[in-house]
Amino acid sequence: MNKSVRKAIIAGNWKMNKTRPEAKELLEAIKPLVANAEGNVEVIACVPYTNLETAVNTVAGSNVKIGAENVHFEKSGAFTGEISADMLTEIGVEYVVIGHSERRQYFGETDETVNKRTKAALAGGLKPIVCVGELLWERETGITEEVIARQIKLDLYDVSAEDVKKVVIAYEPVWAIGTGKTATADQAEEVCAFIRATLAKLYDDATAQAVTIQYGGSMNAANAAELLSKENVDGGLIGGASLKAADFNTIVQAAING
Ligand code: 13P
Repeated sequence: MNKSVRKAIIAGNWKMNKTRPEAKELLEAIKPLVANAEGNVEVIACVPYTNLETAVNTVAGSNVKIGAENVHFEKSGAFTGEISADMLTEIGVEYVVIGHSERRQYFGETDETVNKRTKAALAGGLKPIVCVGELLWERETGITEEVIARQIKLDLYDVSAEDVKKVVIAYEPVWAIGTGKTATADQAEEVCAFIRATLAKLYDDATAQAVTIQYGGSMNAANAAELLSKENVDGGLIGGASLKAADFNTIVQAAING
C-alpha cells in the first residue's frame, strides 16, 4: 500500500490566538484559497473554544472543517472549566486535538488522560488528532522510539481497530514546536514510519496503513513540500504558520501535490 490510500490532512492548531472577529477574518481569507483541496486534502482549523461557533458558521458550505483543541472525558457533571464531546458536536465541531505537548507540559496531561479523552471523543462522534512526540533530551539519549511506542500504546489503549481508523496521529517532536527547528524530512519520516509499524503490531497492517499520520513542529511554507513528500507523512499539524492565510494555503497546496 502507499500513502495515496490515506486521507491527507492539513490542520491548523491556532493555540491561544485570535478573538472572534479575527477568527472570522482569517477563515474568510483561508476558505477561497484552499477550495481546490476538496476531495483531495482535508483542511481543518482547530481553534479556541470561544471561536468554535463563529468558526463553524464562517466555514459553512466550504471544504474547511473545524476542530477544538481539547475535550473532557466525561459526558457532563462537576468539572469546572471543562467542555464535553457533546457540547462540541452540537456546535458542529468534527475534530479535536488531544494530548498536545503543551497540555502535557503545562497542564498535567498524561497518557492516561489522553487515552480517556480519545475514547470519549470517539464515543461522542469526534475525530481525535492524538499528539505524540519526544523531548529533546529523550532524542539525545536515544530513546525516541521507546517514548513514542509507549505513548501510542497507552494513548490508544482499548481503542478498537475500527475506531483507530478515525484517529489521526500527529507526530510532534517537542523540541521542534515553536522553535523554528524543524525535524528534517528524514527524521520525520523515520518516526512516522515507526508509528505505523507500532500500529501494525497493535492492530494489523491494513489498519496501520489506513491511519493518517501528520508531522507537526515548525512546519511552514518553505519546508512543507519536502516533509509532505515522505511516504509516511500524510499531513501536517501547523501552529504559527496556520495563523497566516497565505502560508497555511502554501502548505495545503504542498499536500495536494505531495
Ligand atoms: P509550530 O508550527 O508553531 O511549531 O507549532 C506546532 C504545533 O504545536 C502544532 O500543534
